[in-house]
Amino acid sequence: MKKHIALVPGDGIGPDIVNEAVKVLEVVGKKFGHEFTTTSYLAGGAALDALGIPLPEDTLEGCKKSDSVLLGAVGGPKWDTLASNLRPEKALLGLRSGMGLFCNLRPAILYKQLSDACPLKDEIIGDGLDIMVVRELTGGIYFGERGREGDRAYDTMAYSIPEVERIVRKGFEIAQKRSKRLCSIDKANILNSSQLWREVVEKMKGEYPDVKVSHMYVDNAAMQLVRNPRQFDVIVTSNMFGDILSDEASQITGSIGMLPSASLAADGFGMYEPIHGSAPDIAGQNIANPIATVLSVAMMLRYSFSMAKEADAIEEAVSKVLDGGYRTADIYTDGMKKVGTSEMGTLIAQAL
Ligand code: IPM
Ligand code: MG
Repeated sequence: MKKHIALVPGDGIGPDIVNEAVKVLEVVGKKFGHEFTTTSYLAGGAALDALGIPLPEDTLEGCKKSDSVLLGAVGGPKWDTLASNLRPEKALLGLRSGMGLFCNLRPAILYKQLSDACPLKDEIIGDGLDIMVVRELTGGIYFGERGREGDRAYDTMAYSIPEVERIVRKGFEIAQKRSKRLCSIDKANILNSSQLWREVVEKMKGEYPDVKVSHMYVDNAAMQLVRNPRQFDVIVTSNMFGDILSDEASQITGSIGMLPSASLAADGFGMYEPIHGSAPDIAGQNIANPIATVLSVAMMLRYSFSMAKEADAIEEAVSKVLDGGYRTADIYTDGMKKVGTSEMGTLIAQAL
């Protein structure tokens, strides 16, 4: 197959890790007989510095025309004092809404090779953690009416039934392919938009009789994720709750540098990125962990290109390298072999 991928390395460690992911992608292409071509685009702080805007038209258009998008990370202290419509994060929101990427998949997996890094007690982790957070990504408070008037500022959380239906449907479909448990997380004891959300889930569950549905308030969910994370399999939730809970879910695995994500449109088109940020303090020093970005490429192959065996091959290569004791600084423990960003990319490419 021939596929064209838009690269949006972004800021901080973004370029470091995207380089390594491309290295791995090229090897996959050779090994499985695909032709992957790439074009790089500016977004975030990099675009602000070059052009004075966070998301150039050319970037959005280039991404839309591609078969898939791989993003590094955007943002950094250098641009933190800008007005909110000029901040690098605006680029991310613009890409998400501009391409209709309403469905954000954020797996939180505890890698057995890294179980020492998990901050939870052994009896809580049992034989591992594997949670899929399905986050609504183009609605809710991130995109609602907002403003600032004198000494007052406001943001609005609004959802329509079709917006809730399409993300909840994704939640059900993913739960059907996993352990058939879906937990919908809301704040229906307070918020109207959450009451609507809950009604939609209740109405739809008849279509998925094989899936066991539960509802949980977001504050309780934040607590349960630490107290007993193994009760969760697939979580479906709104934009802001998903933002917060997916950070929490990733942290309890102790593997934040390892976790990929997919942001999908209705037709399967997607943008893929590591869940971690741009870590400007270690940018360009060859110490960032490229694994989350490499695994994001695996998700791209699986979800957008239906290349399951290619995706499996990447995931197995990562596992092999971890089995070999190779670790970047963020996941390093005594007795392991410390490697830099580019060495890690090369090791994974070789394992392939
Ligand atoms: C994320 C990030 C973004 C979000 C920011 C950078 C806009 O925290 O992808 O989770 O809040 O969605
Ligand atoms: Mg976040």
